[in-house]
Amino acid sequence: MSSIVENHKKLERNVTLLGLFAFIVVAIGGVVEIAPLFWIDNTIEKVKGVRPYTPLEQAGRDIYVREGCYACHSQMIRPFRDEVERYGHYSLAAESMYDHPFQWGSKRTGPDLARVGGRYSDEWHVQHLKDPRAVVPESIMPPYAFLADRDLAPGDQTAQLLALARVGVPYSAADLAKADADLMAQADPEADTADLLARYPKAQARDFDGDPGRLTEMDALVAYLQVLGTLVDVNAAAAQEELAREKGR
Ligand code: HEC
Repeated sequence: MSSIVENHKKLERNVTLLGLFAFIVVAIGGVVEIAPLFWIDNTIEKVKGVRPYTPLEQAGRDIYVREGCYACHSQMIRPFRDEVERYGHYSLAAESMYDHPFQWGSKRTGPDLARVGGRYSDEWHVQHLKDPRAVVPESIMPPYAFLADRDLAPGDQTAQLLALARVGVPYSAADLAKADADLMAQADPEADTADLLARYPKAQARDFDGDPGRLTEMDALVAYLQVLGTLVDVNAAAAQEELAREKGR
């Protein structure tokens, strides 16, 4: 017993030795926390309903990023009472697992948009994007009327989806092969969308910008806004998450 006390005395009075041992103890804690991350592929628990974006939604997302909407809008509802009461259930990690780049953020000049899908009609979005002050008189959001005049340049959607697939978004071979057709079909009220809906559950297929004759950037952006937060039954998913945590204990 006394030898332990003696040794400890030595340790406490030698700064170099104390530093060394303190480092060893902290390093053990670090290894225990970090090492498992090297052996598990994914730290995000899968949640039912999460799927990759359709080519049209993805095109809308690219416009969202291009126009810098993220400078004023976050897409992450934090688990605080005031946020949950205003925006709905707090965001789950899995809900943005296929987002590249993600749109979390904490800078909010405008409201969070993580669950804006379905909250307003397409007409409201089109009107609001063309002239925000026409629907919200005190708004300071800039107008984006030009989106309704710009044809959506289809380009090569397969290449677009393939790039995302490379970083881990699970697009199937059929999704990649039919990307261009899917893009056109989702905003075309005349198109047969059964195949699109089978591969992208809960996709909303219709004319979004009020101009069924044309496929515009407005179509894509509104399709994207209308899908935000609509894929997951959050209350069921949160209950499942809670259950998994209970079991893990
Ligand atoms: C300069 C900051 C700013 C930028 C940039 C901006 N917004 Fe907004 N946005 C706001 C503000 C402020 C509001 C709240 C007032 C209103 O509804 O217009 C708002 C409201 C919204 C709403 C309604 C949200 C709700 O729950 O009521 C949507 C949808 C929206 N913006 C989408 C967009 C999109 C899409 C873009 C990019 C094309 C964008 N915003 C760019 C500031 C901005």
